[in-house]
Amino acid sequence: MVEQTFVALKPDTVQRGLIGEILKRFENAGLKISGLKMRWVTKDFAKQHYKSHVKKAFYNGLEKFITEGPVIAMVVEGVCAVETVRKIVGSTEPKTAAPGTIRGDFAHHSYNYTDKKKIAIKNLIHASENKKEAQYEIGLWFTDDEIHKYKTTHEKHTQ
Ligand code: PPS
Repeated sequence: MVEQTFVALKPDTVQRGLIGEILKRFENAGLKISGLKMRWVTKDFAKQHYKSHVKKAFYNGLEKFITEGPVIAMVVEGVCAVETVRKIVGSTEPKTAAPGTIRGDFAHHSYNYTDKKKIAIKNLIHASENKKEAQYEIGLWFTDDEIHKYKTTHEKHTQ
């Protein structure tokens, strides 16, 4: 049941100075940060990360966005971490993301607006969609020795 998932705070989060605010949402939920680093994504790396989206109409805008500045990459661990993190993040389109979620509270872009402007939706954060994707993305972004085993002080209450 305890599992790891991958999270990336996109360039809009870093540039808006929201790293701390967003990181806090995961810590508040009792999730453990097992890996953390800043990386400036190249176009080649973006294609590996978004391999299932490369042929989609919105891909060029997405690649431009994810490569425009550094991102924060994280491995987040906890009970049902993949599902829990996606719940905290909220739905992909900020306009319809529920209040209380990261995308609902800190962003408001709509597909209608971004599609017309041919730009990526500025939704602050990426989180693996399922366990298979989490495994792939953690392996792509992190080496084994960059993922750390330690006990949090409140772990006895969350695991
Ligand atoms: S899809 O169409 O169901 O595969 O799309 P989805 O899984 O919701 O999102 C795929 C990633 O592409 C980003 N993105 C967009 N999706 C749809 N339309 C537009 N215009 C768009 N622009 C960017 C979206 O944020 C997803 O990336 P991540 O990093 O997972 O948020």
